[in-house]
Amino acid sequence: MAEQFRFGIIGCGVIGPVHAAAITSLPDAQLVAVADTFFESAQKLAAAYGATPYNDSGEMLAREQLDVVTVCTPSGMHGQDAIRAMRSGRHVIVEKPMEINRAALDEMLRVQQEMGVKLAVISQHRFDPAAQQVYALVQEKAFGRLVLGNALIPWWRSQGYYDSGAWRGTWQLDGGGVLMNQSIHSIDVLQWLMGPVRSVYACTDTLAHRMETEDVAVAVLRFANGALGTIAATTGAYPGVSTRIEIFGDQGSAIIENDELAYLHLARDDSAEVGAYGINAKIERAERGEKTAGAARNPSGISIRGHAMQIADMLRAIRENGAPLVDGYAGRRTVEIILAIYESARTHQEVLLS
Ligand SMILES: NC(=O)c1ccc[n+]([C@@H]2O[C@H](COP(=O)([O-])OP(=O)(O)OC[C@H]3O[C@@H](n4cnc5c(N)ncnc54)[C@H](O)[C@@H]3O)[C@@H](O)[C@H]2O)c1
Repeated sequence: MAEQFRFGIIGCGVIGPVHAAAITSLPDAQLVAVADTFFESAQKLAAAYGATPYNDSGEMLAREQLDVVTVCTPSGMHGQDAIRAMRSGRHVIVEKPMEINRAALDEMLRVQQEMGVKLAVISQHRFDPAAQQVYALVQEKAFGRLVLGNALIPWWRSQGYYDSGAWRGTWQLDGGGVLMNQSIHSIDVLQWLMGPVRSVYACTDTLAHRMETEDVAVAVLRFANGALGTIAATTGAYPGVSTRIEIFGDQGSAIIENDELAYLHLARDDSAEVGAYGINAKIERAERGEKTAGAARNPSGISIRGHAMQIADMLRAIRENGAPLVDGYAGRRTVEIILAIYESARTHQEVLLS
């Protein structure tokens, strides 16, 4: 029988149960214990999987024999929870965003190095077949010179969603609004495909909700390879419309819509020459309503597939003593883009990333 990795989960709210389902879908992973300060949530999740519930994650770490701990607490608590688990010698998978400020991000990386454990940051959409296919084509330089990369995230979250947890939409624990919480997935995939971001110029506002942080944001990006890009994001677009990631180069274009490849055209596959005015290809529209991706409308409408693939990737990294696809350095890079966008929106200046 394959080696069994023993898992614990900290935080049993909306995403904790997705981790539990993803972990137990893998043949070499076992859910042993779960912790939540709201004990009923821990008990409910533990009962569903035959695990042991705790109301104190410190006690879980002290008592249980665990190989990997996943952190599913509010975003501004990821650092403290991940650091405590790493200090106890466990490998850690932390939900996105890795943390919400630079000091905490740096401390997490420092402790990870010191303890010699693995740290992975959830970005499950990198594991979507469409994102993997476009990434492979970028590596082959199939798009030629990349010129433009866009992410459009017109999502919907009701006021009830923001009111459902005191931490939601706050600077202190959510670390931001539509960018830090919802759009981080698309921003991570965009910069993974297009390459590192060199500078940002941005505007943000709060227009459709009572909350501290932004519910609409627009950013202009300059990538290190010279390409330009945009991010346009909101949680005020009722009822939640398709997410798009667009990659354009002088030898090809790709559009990922709702995590699926909606358009791909490469010069290398053309049998006839494309004329001086191009072909202005039409994009297949998603059917009205029903094909809108789950998470665009509903925060718990998340499939477990991406999480399961990412957890499997972490187990591969542990076994091979290699790096997970989204390690702590990759997790920090995406948060740094978002922090630079907030700084630009505050200062009305272009912000350079190091
Ligand atoms: N990858 C994704 O698609 C995805 C989707 C949703 C949420 N998330 C991320 O997951 C995290 C949690 O989000 P959520 O929507 O599940 O939030 P939630 O509020 O539903 O759940 C958080 C849980 O953590 C518990 N908790 C708080 N402090 C704790 C502590 N000190 N110890 C143990 N438990 C504690 C709360 O009682 C609550 O049950 C956030 O960082 C969010 O960004 C990721």
